Amino acid sequence: MATQLIERDLDAISADLLPFEDAVRTRRSIRGFLDRPLPENIIRAVLDDAQFAPSNCNTQPWNTHIVRGEKLKQLSQLLHAKNDAGEFTPDFSFDVNDFYGEYRERNNALGKAYYEAMNVMREDKEARHRAGAKNYSFFDAPQAAFLFMPSFGDNVRVAGDMGMYGQTLLLSLAARGLGGIPQTALGFFAGTIREFLGIPDDLKLLFGISFGYPDDDAPGNRVRMDRVPLETSVTFHA
Ligand SMILES: Cc1cc2nc3c(=O)[nH]c(=O)nc-3n(C[C@H](O)[C@H](O)[C@H](O)COP(=O)(O)O)c2cc1C
Repeated sequence: MATQLIERDLDAISADLLPFEDAVRTRRSIRGFLDRPLPENIIRAVLDDAQFAPSNCNTQPWNTHIVRGEKLKQLSQLLHAKNDAGEFTPDFSFDVNDFYGEYRERNNALGKAYYEAMNVMREDKEARHRAGAKNYSFFDAPQAAFLFMPSFGDNVRVAGDMGMYGQTLLLSLAARGLGGIPQTALGFFAGTIREFLGIPDDLKLLFGISFGYPDDDAPGNRVRMDRVPLETSVTFHA
């Protein structure tokens, strides 16, 4: 396994990779992609970087499915139909009403920023539905990754590992001037996606990542979420 990881495609390792700090600070969720598929060697290089994520007890639990081309178009149609019909088949629960206090405020700030960018009025339910449904067009990305995982206990530790993997993948994209967006919205249709891709029931879908070349002119890419100051998140003890 280790040999496979060090046999790297030199063409995919751009000399122009961003320095760490720039990659971390320029990464943001991309909600609009160009209709230009990524070359296979770049996709493999990014996935290979993600393999280096840490995991609880070295379980390396990520089972990633990359969907492209005609298959992605078919899946998009299916997901739009299920979303319009409200036929959700999630593996894990999710309810924004669980957020409270400052967490709820931050979530509200995201909603406001996204709908403003998409020129959607708060009270226009139909337009909000359409803006949210862009998740199921993969924000026009020509490729998407579906992050499946085995189920261990209450799954909290595995989900942590999957997050580490997802962020490594996103930073690898950012370092190459590419973009991606993690999407819990795709996890709402875990059962549908599992059946469509022929994946066994014991693998659970946590989230997906649409990725590719960012479309700088897409309205969704006007969203910029800032961060709370360090002091709000970090407490030092001595
Ligand atoms: C696990 C995970 C799932 C997410 N799911 C969605 C999603 O379904 N749709 C979406 O538009 N954004 C989704 N996001 C993106 C967040 O809204 C975004 O990370 C947050 O607002 C901070 O903005 P930034 O990523 O641009 O820094 C998700 C992010 C994470 C980490």
